[in-house]
Amino acid sequence: MDILVTGGDGFVGQHLCAELVDRSHDVTSLSRTPDPSVLPGEVELTEGDVTDYDSIEGEFEGKDVVMNLAALPPLHQPPRETSHDSVCIGGSINAVEAAEEHGVSKFIEMSSLGADPNGKIAYWRTQGLGEEVVRYSDLNWVVFRPSFIFGEGSETFTFIRQHTTPYVTVLPDGGNQPRFQPIWIGDCVQMFVDGIENDEYVGEIYELAGPEVLTLGDVARLLYGTDGKSIEILPVPMLLAVIALNAVDPIPQIPLGVNQARALKMSNTTRYNDINEFGFTKSELMSLSAYLA
Ligand SMILES: NC(=O)c1ccc[n+]([C@@H]2O[C@H](COP(=O)([O-])OP(=O)(O)OC[C@H]3O[C@@H](n4cnc5c(N)ncnc54)[C@H](OP(=O)(O)O)[C@@H]3O)[C@@H](O)[C@H]2O)c1
Repeated sequence: MDILVTGGDGFVGQHLCAELVDRSHDVTSLSRTPDPSVLPGEVELTEGDVTDYDSIEGEFEGKDVVMNLAALPPLHQPPRETSHDSVCIGGSINAVEAAEEHGVSKFIEMSSLGADPNGKIAYWRTQGLGEEVVRYSDLNWVVFRPSFIFGEGSETFTFIRQHTTPYVTVLPDGGNQPRFQPIWIGDCVQMFVDGIENDEYVGEIYELAGPEVLTLGDVARLLYGTDGKSIEILPVPMLLAVIALNAVDPIPQIPLGVNQARALKMSNTTRYNDINEFGFTKSELMSLSAYLA
């Protein structure tokens, strides 16, 4: 198959493109600043911005499948020159229009667990709206909503290390919130490729989550455990953390704010885990504890 992956040189894209190449597909990765060092040599790299239709439209010609991974991470506030709205909603509108224009057979939208068009957090609200753009198109579509994905290159690990310290650290509510159901990139990629190669998944939304429900504190403990370091968590009241994050929101030099304050209280877990639709059972998935051990 001839496959276009927007955001193909990001964390998820790198792993996905490598697997697609291993399975002998022709793969093109599109991003604003293509990075050949993170992708197999067989992947064609192309420069384009999903918020600018003319810069991406031509790349959709002749593609069998488009996997739309272009997004901004939720961990920090995006730089002022861009926004979740422009990339997740505007980008999906442009990508869908280009896919329709060029008769792409299948469009796969990468969303995430918690996506909600009426949500209060920009990342999840715009992903919910991006999903709607795709669902109401004329395309054969599939939507994936994974929970926090872990693996080599995960920005979440870097983020936790940036905002905590080994041995003793301070976390809102003692790290008891938020809660996640982390899923390993290696398992996710098998499900994504299944969605690309097989047509039985068309027209459905799939929530994908890992075998464990962990808090932020649990993840920090596991992460520092890999360095042989223990971590004592000192609680700071949630209200104080929320007030502080709201207060720094207007300061461009601090990439944290209202959205991160709201995300602190969210539960990124699912009761409707769809991993079994892709032939997986919970016990077969890699857990974060096992991965970091
Ligand atoms: N990582 C997770 O834990 C996780 C969990 C659930 C869902 N997801 C979803 O999976 C997708 C990929 O996430 P990721 O972790 O791989 O993100 P990532 O590492 O931040 O990669 C994002 C990719 O999108 C590209 N991009 C950003 N803005 C763009 C634009 N305007 N035009 C074209 N390309 C653009 C980036 O390249 P340039 O900056 O060079 O353009 C990069 O290649 C996202 O939809 C994300 O919401 C991720």
